[in-house]
Formats: sequence, C-alpha cells, structure tokens
Amino acid sequence: MMDFATIQATEKKLLLSTYERNPLLFERGQGVYLIDDKGERYLDLLSGIGVNALGYGHTAIEEAIARQSKLLIHTSNLYYHHGQAELAVRLTERAGLDRVFFANTGTEAWEAAMKLARAYAGLLRSEGKQIGTKFLALEQSFHGRTFGSVSTTHKAKYREPFGPVVPGVEFVRFNDVEDLKAKFSTEVCAILVEPIQGEGGIRPLSQEFFATARELTKSTGALLVADEIQAGLGRTGKWFAYQHYGILPDVTTMAKPLAGGIPLGAMLCTEEAARAIHAGMHGTTFGGGPLACAVAIAVIDTIEREGLLDHATEVGGYFLAQLEALKKKHDSIKTVRGKGLMVAAEVESAELGKHVVKAMLERKILINVTSDTALRFLPPYIVTEEQIDIAIAALDEIFTEYANANAVTSAAKAGV
Ligand SMILES: Cc1ncc(COP(=O)(O)O)c(C=O)c1O
Repeated sequence: MMDFATIQATEKKLLLSTYERNPLLFERGQGVYLIDDKGERYLDLLSGIGVNALGYGHTAIEEAIARQSKLLIHTSNLYYHHGQAELAVRLTERAGLDRVFFANTGTEAWEAAMKLARAYAGLLRSEGKQIGTKFLALEQSFHGRTFGSVSTTHKAKYREPFGPVVPGVEFVRFNDVEDLKAKFSTEVCAILVEPIQGEGGIRPLSQEFFATARELTKSTGALLVADEIQAGLGRTGKWFAYQHYGILPDVTTMAKPLAGGIPLGAMLCTEEAARAIHAGMHGTTFGGGPLACAVAIAVIDTIEREGLLDHATEVGGYFLAQLEALKKKHDSIKTVRGKGLMVAAEVESAELGKHVVKAMLERKILINVTSDTALRFLPPYIVTEEQIDIAIAALDEIFTEYANANAVTSAAKAGV
C-alpha cells in the first residue's frame, strides 16, 4: 500500500487536475464520522456532498450490498432483475409522478430530463401544437458537468472553457417573476429549476416564482422540470423539496443520496410526458443495475423505518435556530438559510468563507463553502443535536477569533 506522501505525489503526476483536495486520507467511516489514516475522527457535516444520507457503516447498506453482491451485480438493461420495479414503485409513490428512467449520476438524470423535454415538444409539434425547443434555466443554477447539463448551469467558469455549449438555453434572474414572464413564450419547451438551489448557495425558490413557472408551462404544454439531485429524497424533511410548495412538476431528477453512496440517478416524469419516449431512443449500460437498486430500496426503507424525514425537520430546525443565534452575535454572518438538513450561513466575504472551512477542518469538522460566501452544511440525516452543538461551538470560536483579529488590525491601522 502507498503511504500518503506517495499517494499525493502520484496523483499530482497522474490525475487530471480537476480537484484541489484537502490534505486528508480517509480510510473508514462510522455514523457521522470519517476516520483518517492516523485514526483521527472528523465530524462530517457535508456527507460526501449530500450523498451519505445514512452516514457511514449503516448496517442496512452493508447488508444490502453483501446480499446483492453475492446474487447479481450487473445484467445490463436488456433483461429484467428484481430491483427496478420495486424501486420504481417506491419512487413514483413518493414523488407523485408516473414513470422512471434510471441513470448512474445526477448529470445523467438531468440529461435524460433535457432530452425528454425536447422529444416531448417534438411530439406536441407533430400533433399540431406550437411549441419550440428553448430551455429557460435560472441564474446561479447548477445541473451538472456533461454538455447538456453544463449548458443549463449558470456559472461561466463551468461553461465557457468548453464553448460552444448546447445552444437554446436562456437564463432567467433568480426569483424574478417579471423576467420569467418576459422570457417565456411558445418557443420554450421547458422551465428548469432547482426548488432549492444547492451550489448556488442554498437558495429556495419563492412560492410566487415557482407557481408562475407552473402556470406558464401549463398554458403552452412546456414541461416544468425540478432538479432534486441535492435537495431531494428527504434532505429537506419531505421526500422532495417541491412538496413544500404544493407544486407538482412534470419531471424531476434525483441522485446523490438515492443509493447511499453507490452511484445511482433517476428521472421521474408524468405519463403524459413519457409518451415521447420509445424503446431505443435513450439508454444506459449501467443505470439501474441490481446492486444500486437493492441499496436504494434499503436506503428508502431505512429513511422511513427510522423516521428520518421528521428527524431531518427537527434537527434541521434546531440547526437553523442555533445558526440564527450565532448570526445575532457575529456581524460577519449575514444571513442564514435552509430547510431541514440543507443549510447555509452566508458570510461577509469569500476570504472569510475559505477561512472558516479551513478553521473547521483544523477542529476536525467537515463543511464547505459554495457560491464563494455560503458556508454549506449537508449532514447525514442521522446527525444529532449534540453533533450540531459541537459544530456551533466551533463556529462561535472561529467567528470570535476572527472578530478579535479584525479589531486588533483596525486598531493598529488607526494607530490606537
Ligand atoms: C442540483 C444538482 N444537479 C445536478 C448535479 C450533478 O450531479 P452529479 O455530480 O451526480 O453528476 C448536482 C451535483 O452537485 C446538483 O447539486
């Protein structure tokens, strides 16, 4: 086995440099903790960027993997296996939608949604309806890294180096109802939203904006597509974030926590939209394999059996209240946002954001910063109030030290 220094040197030489990794070598996980090569425990409030909903080493996941891996890991989508039908029943019931396409990752689920929207508009045109091919996406959106997904992702640094990206996407100002109305027309085949934006800084859609998107799409036959890859499957205290609004989209996508760390994505849609897809139009070698489906079934059943939706609501509410109290104490915390266990604290500068993440790491607590200034918390659903208290105490200390250091600098500048 390579030692850590050799791993770092080898990766530096051999890997495409897509990530600036933190200098930590994790070997095991247990509950809400990750354990590194020195046996040090880290409280993980990011859960693999919103993936490890049941934390680490949950017996339900271990047992599902052990059981299914002995039976069947892969078959392709040319044959039946036991997993897809059972998982599809669970997902359609919870989402309120009719049909499922299984993929491997979030971005693939999103590509399927985009392709469905274009194919459905084509079907409507063939039936004599006037509808175009344009997508309306939102500013600050993030939908993934493949070409279609990145074309609907707002941040220029993700899109521009790869231009020209997929044409036919226009961005609407976030929560700006007038801008949405002005840009919507029969040219639009779909409005694409995250009910709560993740990478964009944990920003919920306003009720009015989401409802307007629903009305506009209904008026022309365009699809309303909700990306639930980060917010969905229980993180916000409901199975899907759109359920907080009482709005049902035509299409939704999910991935991250679906199979508890085994890659699996899914796109769900209405029976009506599904008319546009026939055998051979779309597919995947790995998507919806027996192993991933067996684990996803175990994850969903465990969330239900352990009451983790209510737990996410309760502990998430506690977390937000504690962050609000911190905000009152520290001027450098500007706003606190979130729903359930999808939480952010906006700080006054990108420099401070980076500093807090680093200082938390030094205290063996994992969080990250998104959209430059939003400290982001996506803990496993099993996190406890005691663990939240540990994080809050650490944040309090870090913000106090920061304020004291700033006061000293200002005093020095003023010559006090
Ligand atoms: C809202 C949203 N959509 C899509 C994606 C892309 O998912 P993946 O990284 O699995 O391709 C992400 C990932 O962060 C996401 O947060």
